[in-house]
Amino acid sequence: MSDLVLVEDAEGIRTIRFNRPDKKNALTRAMYSAAADALESGDEDPSVKVFMIAGSDGVFTAGNDIVDFMERPPHVGGGDLPPVERFMRALFSAKKPVVAAVDGLAIGIGVTLLLHCDIIYCSNRSTFKTPFVDLALAPEFGSSQIMPQYLGHAVAAELLMLGNTWGADRAYQTGLVNGTTPPEALEETARIAARNLAAKAPGSLRTAKALMKRPPEDIVERISTEGGMFAELLRSEEFAEAAAAFMERRKPDFSKFG
Ligand code: COA
Repeated sequence: MSDLVLVEDAEGIRTIRFNRPDKKNALTRAMYSAAADALESGDEDPSVKVFMIAGSDGVFTAGNDIVDFMERPPHVGGGDLPPVERFMRALFSAKKPVVAAVDGLAIGIGVTLLLHCDIIYCSNRSTFKTPFVDLALAPEFGSSQIMPQYLGHAVAAELLMLGNTWGADRAYQTGLVNGTTPPEALEETARIAARNLAAKAPGSLRTAKALMKRPPEDIVERISTEGGMFAELLRSEEFAEAAAAFMERRKPDFSKFG
């Protein structure tokens, strides 16, 4: 494991931390590979319930390492699965919930990756920018589709076309993030959300996430898909525990479920 990406498991939460502050956490091929390893192995490990992605003090990430980029330009979707694509595929196909804690700079893929997380907090000194057009490049990893879908076209164009820099307030107001905190409260705020998720019934949570990630479809189709999953979960041991806990007026304990 590269020490430029720190991976720590505690309380069912796998924290993946970008740790290259002298280069503003610019992401290299080795860092993407390390982060991809952590996501792929964690998604298969029953002791990992939730992922948390974080950066270092005052910097989430300044995006792709531009030197790395120029030396070995990746061709995403070109078939050879460059590390950046492996990481982003692992992130957007993660079955388990992903919480992000953004403190400071989030640039380029530092914003793009947030679109594939589930719960996002940022410190009130954070800034968000996707300077792709300013660099004569293009949006990446589904952001041209997802960002307008989540935030609306005109609002997304502020980032993806104008290349504006958003502060934490704008990020919250547009719905890019769930909340803002003082820097010193950020990690604990994100961790509380991660702990809450880690305590829930894992199969049920995976089902909710999978449903939320499905592409838009005919609502009758969706109702039928949900109904099938609901019926299956009604027969699950997780539901038996939830129902027993309700009857016994206690908190459910889902810790034995993977
Ligand atoms: N790739 C490679 N190196 C980067 C980097 C990146 N994306 N972002 C920052 N760095 C490096 C700088 O080259 C510098 O290295 P050095 O100390 O060896 O010279 C170091 O990180 C600190 O950056 P610096 O520019 O001195 O800090 P700053 O506080 O003045 O500015 C940024 C910080 C992030 C605003 C500025 O570095 C920047 O604009 N970086 C590029 C961000 C970007 O366009 N990312 C999208 C890529 S698609």
